[in-house]
Amino acid sequence: MPNCLIVPSILSADFSRLAEEVGAVVAAGADMIHFDVMDNHYVPNLTIGPQVCQALKPHTPVPIDVHLMVKPVDRIVPDFAKAGAAIISFHPEASEHVDRTIGLIHDCGCKAGLVFNPATPLNWLDHVLDKLDLVLIMSVNPGFGGQSFISEALAKLKAARARIDAVRSRTGREIRLEVDGGVKVDNIGAIARAGADTFVAGSAIFGSRDYKATIAAMRAAIAATCST
Ligand code: DX5
Ligand code: ZN
Repeated sequence: MPNCLIVPSILSADFSRLAEEVGAVVAAGADMIHFDVMDNHYVPNLTIGPQVCQALKPHTPVPIDVHLMVKPVDRIVPDFAKAGAAIISFHPEASEHVDRTIGLIHDCGCKAGLVFNPATPLNWLDHVLDKLDLVLIMSVNPGFGGQSFISEALAKLKAARARIDAVRSRTGREIRLEVDGGVKVDNIGAIARAGADTFVAGSAIFGSRDYKATIAAMRAAIAATCST
C-alpha cells in the first residue's frame, strides 16, 4: 500500500492572509503545501513567485511542492530552491531541454517532477523517468483553480502507475504519482484506485468551512487504497 499525501494548493487560499491559511491547513493535517506559479505566458494567469515562497517558508513546517507553470523554466529554478522549495515540477513543453532542467533542479538540491497536461502524452517519460522523483498528472488544464476533473486522467494515472511500478521493480526507486485539478472528497477514492498517491486539492479544501474535516474525509475516502 503506498503512503498517500494530501497536498492543499494555496491557489484557492485567502491571499490577504496566506501565512495564516498555510498554518490552518498544516494544523488540519496537510502533508505538503502546493505552490502554483503562473506567468501569464505559459498559462493565462499570474500568481506568486519566489519572494512569496521565501516569506511563507518559516510558516510552513511541511515540504513546499512548487508547480511551475512558467516558460522558460530554468532561469527561475535556483530562485525557488533558495526560497525553500522541496520539490520543483515543470511542464515539458515549457523547457527547451527537459533532461537538463531535471539535472538543474537536482543540482539545486530539490526533488524534480514532470507535469503532464491533459493532452500531453506520457512518452515524455520514455528517457527520463529514472531521473524523476515525481510525475504530476493534470486533471484540468492548468491556469485556474475550481475547474472540473477531466475523467480521462484516470486512464492516464493507471498508465503512469504502471511505468512507475516498473522502475521500482527494476531499481527500487520510489517515484511519487501526483494528481492536480478537480480533486474532491467524492472523487478522490477513484483517483487513488487509479494509482495516484499524492493528491493536490485547492478549492475542495480552501473552499470548505472546516479544513480538518475535509482533509479527514479525503483520507477516509482513500484509506482502502493507501496508508495515510
Ligand atoms: C491549476 C493548479 C492547481 C489548482 C487546483 O492550474 O495547478 O494546483 O490549484 O485547484 P482545484 O483543486 O480547485 O482544481
Ligand atoms: Zn498545481
